Amino acid sequence: QDRSVQVKLVLLGEAAVGKSSVVLRFVSNEFQANKEPTIGAAFLTQKCRLEDRVLRYEIWDTAGQERFHSLAPMYYRNAQAAVVVYDVTKASSLEKAKTWVKELQRQANPNIVIALAGNKIDLVQPSSSTPTSDSEPEEEADDATATPGEPSGENGENLRQVPRDEAEAYAQEAGLLFFETSAKTGEGVVEIFTEIAKKIPIE
Ligand code: GTP
Ligand code: MG
Repeated sequence: QDRSVQVKLVLLGEAAVGKSSVVLRFVSNEFQANKEPTIGAAFLTQKCRLEDRVLRYEIWDTAGQERFHSLAPMYYRNAQAAVVVYDVTKASSLEKAKTWVKELQRQANPNIVIALAGNKIDLVQPSSSTPTSDSEPEEEADDATATPGEPSGENGENLRQVPRDEAEAYAQEAGLLFFETSAKTGEGVVEIFTEIAKKIPIE
C-alpha cells in the first residue's frame, strides 16, 4: 500500500530562469535545450525517498511571464513548500525572487518551507579544472580551440551576475534553504527536494 505523505510544492520565479527545467530534471532526469515557456501552470508528481520515509511531491510549476502573476496565489495557497528560482547569469532575476519570497512570507502558509535556487550554474563553472594565470596560453586571433556561439569565456566567470555569497547571505537572513543548481547537468537539483523533505514535519 502507498503510505507516502503528500507534499504540495510550488515553483515561482522570473520567466526563463529554468523552473520547468529543474522540475523536468527532478521528475524525468531529462533536459531540453529549447524548453517552451509555461502557460498558466503545469502539474507533476514525483516521489522522494528519505532514509526513514517516502514523500510524494505534488508539484505546481507556475508560469513566470508577468501576465500570469495574478494566478500564483492559487498555486501557493496551502503549499507546504516553495522553490523560488533565479538565474545566476541575470541579476534582475534575484530581485524578482526576493519579491516572490516577500509575497510568500506575507500570504502563504506561515509554516511553508522555502528554498532559493540559483539555476544555470553550468554557464558560470568550467567543467574542467580552473585555469591558473601562469598556465594561461596567449590569446591568438586564429585560436582553434575557441567555440563560436558559446556564451561563456575560458572559464565562464564573466557570465555570473549573482555572486554565490551575496545570494546565500540573503537566503540565510530570510530563513531560506539555499542551492545553486543546473537543470542542464543535474547539479544540485535532487538536493533541493531532499533537503526540503527533511524539513517537512512528520504527520
Ligand atoms: P517560464 O515557464 O516562462 O516561467 O520559464 P521557466 O522558468 O520554466 O524556464 P524553462 O525551464 O522553460 O527554461 C528556459 C530556458 O533556459 C530553456 O531554453 C532551457 O533549456 C534553459 N535552461 C533551463 N535551465 C538551464 C540550466 O540549468 N542551464 C542552462 N544552460 N540552460 C537552462
Ligand atoms: Mg516553465
